[in-house]
Amino acid sequence: MINGSTRLFGILGNPVAHSLSPVMHNAAFRARGINAVYLPLPTSELAMALAGIKALGFAGISVTVPHKVAIMPLLDVIDPVAEKIGAVNTLLFKHKADGRLQCTGVNTDWIGANQALAEAIRLGGASVLLLGAGGAARAIGFGLREAGAQIFIHNRSQAKGEHLAAQLGCPCVTVNELRDLRADVLVNATSVGMQPNASTMPLEADLLSNFQVVMDIVYAPLETRLLHEAAARGCKTVPGSNMLLYQATAQWQLWLGEEPPVDVMRAALESVLAEKGTQR
Ligand code: ATR
Repeated sequence: MINGSTRLFGILGNPVAHSLSPVMHNAAFRARGINAVYLPLPTSELAMALAGIKALGFAGISVTVPHKVAIMPLLDVIDPVAEKIGAVNTLLFKHKADGRLQCTGVNTDWIGANQALAEAIRLGGASVLLLGAGGAARAIGFGLREAGAQIFIHNRSQAKGEHLAAQLGCPCVTVNELRDLRADVLVNATSVGMQPNASTMPLEADLLSNFQVVMDIVYAPLETRLLHEAAARGCKTVPGSNMLLYQATAQWQLWLGEEPPVDVMRAALESVLAEKGTQR
């Protein structure tokens, strides 16, 4: 029941209609009986929107495409890992002793990826082939480095792959070198395999037996062709929906200061993904 004391949360992006965050966070508020609401906040006027959010006393904000990088200069404090990644997906608000509002930017995408992978393998010392060099790959790459994994990058455009690899201090492998590369984990951080191109794969199927664990960031379909082929070859698979879920549960933890109702959030997410008919 929304009333005069309802706390406000929301997601800044453009567009945000497709976002699954409102479903997860609102289900969690309901389950815990917390008087709060999580709203879609589509905007192309980022600075004005942030000023409005501060003036209205929002309790927590998610940030999505295309604002994850552009919002950084507008914040008071940036978490060190978010600074390295160069993107923020979560805003925290705190009143300082002098009454001023401090806005801190955090990135929970890497936390979500690490938590999803940690259910399948110990990341410290594990070798990981990371496919991609865009925003998602950056967050996952710096997260893997935080966890002490040994990373190899591969990207369609070699120059972009090498740029990220240089920042991570790891090798960037060419398409020819991929054939001989064995690693504990494969992570697809490209958009290959996403609906409506669900029959495509970011790596040849016969190379999947070179890995023990395969994670996909694509969650539509829920079981991508990559994960299907990997499971058929005996790999443990980690669906993209788990990364999406755990980046949201990490936000909840930061905003509310308590353990989130993970099962409620997972059920809400999976029911929407299933409704959307995210079969292959
Ligand atoms: P995001 O922020 O979601 O990571 P992005 O920055 O657009 O999105 O990055 C998309 C990633 O998917 C890139 O690594 C891209 O490769 P390029 O750098 O070569 O563009 C990769 N990607 C997208 N479509 C691809 C395709 N058909 N084959 C291989 N890689 C692809």
